[in-house]
Amino acid sequence: MSSIAELSAGDLHALRDRVLSDYAAFRARGLKIDMTRGKPSPEQLDLANGMLALPGNGDHFSEAGEDARNYGGLQGLTEVRALFAPMMGAPLEQIVVGDNSSLAMMHDCLLWSMVKGVPGEMEPWSQQAGGAPAFICPVPGYDRHFAICEEFGIRMLPVPLGGNGPDMDMVEELVTDPDVKGMWCVPKYSNPSGDVYSTETLERLASMRTGAPDFRLFWDNAYAVHHLTPHRHEIANILELCEQADHPDRAFVFASTSKITLAGAGLALFASSPANVKWYLARAGKRTIGPDKLNQLRHVRFLRNMEGLHRHMEAHRVLIAPKFDTVIEALETRLSGTGVAKWTKPEGGYFICVDAMPGTARDVVELAREAGVVLTPAGATSPYGRDPHDSTLRLAPTFPSLDEVRLASEGIALCILLAAVDKLHAQRNL
Ligand SMILES: Cc1ncc(COP(=O)(O)O)c(C=O)c1O
Repeated sequence: MSSIAELSAGDLHALRDRVLSDYAAFRARGLKIDMTRGKPSPEQLDLANGMLALPGNGDHFSEAGEDARNYGGLQGLTEVRALFAPMMGAPLEQIVVGDNSSLAMMHDCLLWSMVKGVPGEMEPWSQQAGGAPAFICPVPGYDRHFAICEEFGIRMLPVPLGGNGPDMDMVEELVTDPDVKGMWCVPKYSNPSGDVYSTETLERLASMRTGAPDFRLFWDNAYAVHHLTPHRHEIANILELCEQADHPDRAFVFASTSKITLAGAGLALFASSPANVKWYLARAGKRTIGPDKLNQLRHVRFLRNMEGLHRHMEAHRVLIAPKFDTVIEALETRLSGTGVAKWTKPEGGYFICVDAMPGTARDVVELAREAGVVLTPAGATSPYGRDPHDSTLRLAPTFPSLDEVRLASEGIALCILLAAVDKLHAQRNL
């Protein structure tokens, strides 16, 4: 199909009639499919069922002889920290194992920075002179990061992502403002754009001059081992780069096993400089007497080592890569050459990001909803839920079955086309 913007009035009219009739047929199927969130499917969760019987009756002691049933062990069992050290890019002394949510660790770090300040005799962020603290937010980004900022009144400064990470010229300019205290980064297979930050981006983030001496990168490496192709992308080590750039305390690194083992019963991980880890543990020690170490044992006995972890992730890939292929095929079949949308072909992570015709994303979500396919709300990938172009859509194909993903994505492609055709039709006053 040629670009629809170039169609004559008559051809546009005819196309609209065709698309409307396809949409009516799609709607008549009475589907009920949820593509809103990046959740693992039941089959993915089943891959970790072997964990449910672990550590097993009487087998609840760590290698050092700690009783995992009891209180204590704030930093996490040594063997668990050793297991995840390569993934976190830190020695085990600089790793903390939390409970089941890395988002909770990010929330805590932000709250503690606001209320207590970060290490180094710094004022709490909430009490510093100047304007309200601000965070740089690469866009499109993760709505729950933005929600944490909103919760604590942190101003959000959007910066576009371009495939290899955020626009670094803009970032370097913005961080000269001492009110800019931090930045969200999902450096690998970013949610939802799939960006893998380049080495140059990482070097610039580690070495840039910041107006705030207590600036922190909130480095959410949620998709560190979540590959969708045989190519396992690796990124440089941010903690090492920050140290080399003489900013050893700049990065708070987060990850979890939510999308490795069990989304609701995984392990969250934090890694940082010795000073930041000491700071974290001092705060965490007021909040808890210790994490769930039985779950830690369960993980170490199930995954065993990085080789076991990669093998497990390969089994995930076998289940989910065909779903991503199916979405992309549907978009290509219906939309290639129409000029109404662009989409990512992620090599890892959990999302496909579509840029629909500006001014139509909300309409697409509504059309899909009316046809029984629920998508992430338009705007969710921007701070304050406001997408200035009303064009970004986040598709999350992991949870529904492959058949459902095929049906839903054919429908979504149709909705994208229909919204664009409608818009052009209205613009031309046809
Ligand atoms: C970028 C990113 N960070 C964090 C999370 C949630 O992590 P957790 O389950 O460890 O709280 C998600 C879940 O979708 C995510 O996409």
